Amino acid sequence: MSAAGPSQGAKAPSGGSAAGAAAKRGGAVLQTHDLVRTFGGFVATDHVNLVVEPGARHALIGPNGAGKTTLINLLTGYLEPSAGRVELLGQDVTTMAQHERCRQGLVRTFQINQLFADMTVLESVAMAVSEQKGLGTRWWKPLAGHGEVVDQAAAILERLKLLPDAYERTRNLAYGRQRLIEIALALAMRPKVLLLDEPAAGVPTSESQELFETIAELPREVTIVLIEHDMNLVFRFAERISVLVSGAILVEGDPDMIAQHPRVKEVYLGESHG
Ligand SMILES: Nc1ncnc2c1ncn2[C@@H]1O[C@H](COP(=O)(O)OP(=O)(O)OP(=O)(O)O)[C@@H](O)[C@H]1O
Ligand SMILES: [Mg+2]
Repeated sequence: MSAAGPSQGAKAPSGGSAAGAAAKRGGAVLQTHDLVRTFGGFVATDHVNLVVEPGARHALIGPNGAGKTTLINLLTGYLEPSAGRVELLGQDVTTMAQHERCRQGLVRTFQINQLFADMTVLESVAMAVSEQKGLGTRWWKPLAGHGEVVDQAAAILERLKLLPDAYERTRNLAYGRQRLIEIALALAMRPKVLLLDEPAAGVPTSESQELFETIAELPREVTIVLIEHDMNLVFRFAERISVLVSGAILVEGDPDMIAQHPRVKEVYLGESHG
């Protein structure tokens, strides 16, 4: 497994792009160093060296149980690593609390809770913007006095093409559009890096393509790392792919390289054959 070289990401050819140049200067936005997580005797994350470049559209793929969600949990601080380090924007955040990482720009989506379900789309996102600004929920009362909160929320809705649903209760939206609200709530946190664990899970195929197109159109200031099982969506979205198998990075590269890689084919064929 280590034959493929877990640290390939650090020296990936990147065609002279700004992001590639930044990575060569050591400017990865998110990076792990020999990250390990065990559960009892079971190794869920096996010496992972992940390098995420600024502006990346980076996908984590791999069979069920490969350790993708565990890796995201280690990145956000939901789980503590057994060994190794996590760096965000060049800063060691290995022991930093989740909310503090979030404040530093590392944001994952969370599911719309009951409160948001009963609110309109605009209210939900305005509430998140207000929280981010440290205004709590005070904006409710003198709504006119906090026009900037509503303006920012509306700008996020526009970016995600949710403006037509602004006054709809979130619970009434189609599932694919509800997932977009979750992304809108994450954008309200002003992320530098957005982590999406199966953003299209449970979304009908008819809606998942549009969902992914909208994600792909987010500004490059927001680096995106996502987990997705649907290879059609992955190959359209991602510019870099890391394949996790049994907790370790089996191989990394651009979509063409991954599509042709014999070990990757083996893993996926092996999976479908049982
Ligand atoms: N809290 C835990 N305690 C014990 N084992 C765990 C725990 N969390 C994850 N695991 C194990 O770690 C392995 C990796 O799980 P993980 O959820 O990261 O996989 P995944 O790649 O996200 O899979 P899927 O594609 O099904 O979402 C699995 O074998 C899982 O059972
Ligand atoms: Mg998972």
